[in-house]
Amino acid sequence: MRIVSGIQPTGNLHLGNYLGAIRNWVRMQDEWSAKGGQCLYFLADLHAISMPHSPAELAANTREMVAALVSCGIDPDKSILFNQAQVPAHAELQWLLNGTARMGWLNRMTQWKDKAGKNREGASVALFTYPVLQAADVLLYQATHVPVGEDQKQHLELARDIAQKFNNDFCPEDAPLFTLPDPIIPPEAARIMSLRDGSAKMSKSDPSDMSRINLTDDADAIMQKVKKAKTDPEPLPGTVEGLAGRPEANNLVGIYAAMAGISPAEVLTQFEGKGFGQFKPALGELLVETLSPMAARYRQLREDGEALDAILAKGALKARDLAAPTLAKTYQALGLVRG
Ligand code: TYM
Repeated sequence: MRIVSGIQPTGNLHLGNYLGAIRNWVRMQDEWSAKGGQCLYFLADLHAISMPHSPAELAANTREMVAALVSCGIDPDKSILFNQAQVPAHAELQWLLNGTARMGWLNRMTQWKDKAGKNREGASVALFTYPVLQAADVLLYQATHVPVGEDQKQHLELARDIAQKFNNDFCPEDAPLFTLPDPIIPPEAARIMSLRDGSAKMSKSDPSDMSRINLTDDADAIMQKVKKAKTDPEPLPGTVEGLAGRPEANNLVGIYAAMAGISPAEVLTQFEGKGFGQFKPALGELLVETLSPMAARYRQLREDGEALDAILAKGALKARDLAAPTLAKTYQALGLVRG
């Protein structure tokens, strides 16, 4: 059992990241490390250079993301926490897998289409080959499970396709090299939407900070953002079917359910017939209650840059050891001669 997942250190950790992925990282860490399973969580800093970026901000965001993950409950003594840039095997395996990945597969990736937009000629090559690096990230460690939000499902399917083709093309039938990883997507928070637009996912790249709740937001900011969140004038229905065609209401009910650890149907039983004037303060308070302790820990941890660097350096040492055997076997399977 090996769990591997990553997050780009581009800006703040937001509620979508937390509910869609990080909360599962912590759960899996606590469950599996007790049973001898291994969890590797990394900052995808190599992925972050696929879009225009400021080097100074990337370095600062990398340290801040370590502080954020630890404040959410990732324990560097239980999990291996590191950044890709300190484990060269990620970039090496990506190159080796570039021979197996097909142009047509990458062309179909929705993230590539969304992020490159109409300007494909001007997009970076890294943005196009991004999913091959993501495949290398998980195949390098023979990951069995990859906890992610819904938006990463397609990239994980591609990782499986690459693994399968490589195993078929270069390995004996009874000794495949790569494990096919299974995505773990939380049913109740697979896709948290923007607070300003129920049809767009909550994202770090949205220019409006009002569209997302950041882990770093204080109680006032959280209450304000929830209060200003887009809604419709109808009161809440008594059943989940009643949320059809009401994306903003659906999103807020989903967030409440995920935070409270109950189903959307149970939320509606509590709030049936109530307007957003009553529902929003309750949601805001629930968010503040859960996020405030993490935000407080985060503010403390981010002050000690050296300690954060030490966490990454220690994690990278362990990750390099774990990566070495699969990388060596990949070179060998491809017929590449190495001393
Ligand atoms: P990233 O940095 O965009 O997001 C990190 C994690 O947060 C989840 N997520 C969401 N879940 C629910 N609702 C949302 N609105 C929302 N926004 C983000 C993402 O699904 C993700 O799990 N390419 C990846 C990073 C990566 C990776 C990997 C992940 C690189 N290599 C290998 C898994 C395995 C990314 O940019 O995630």
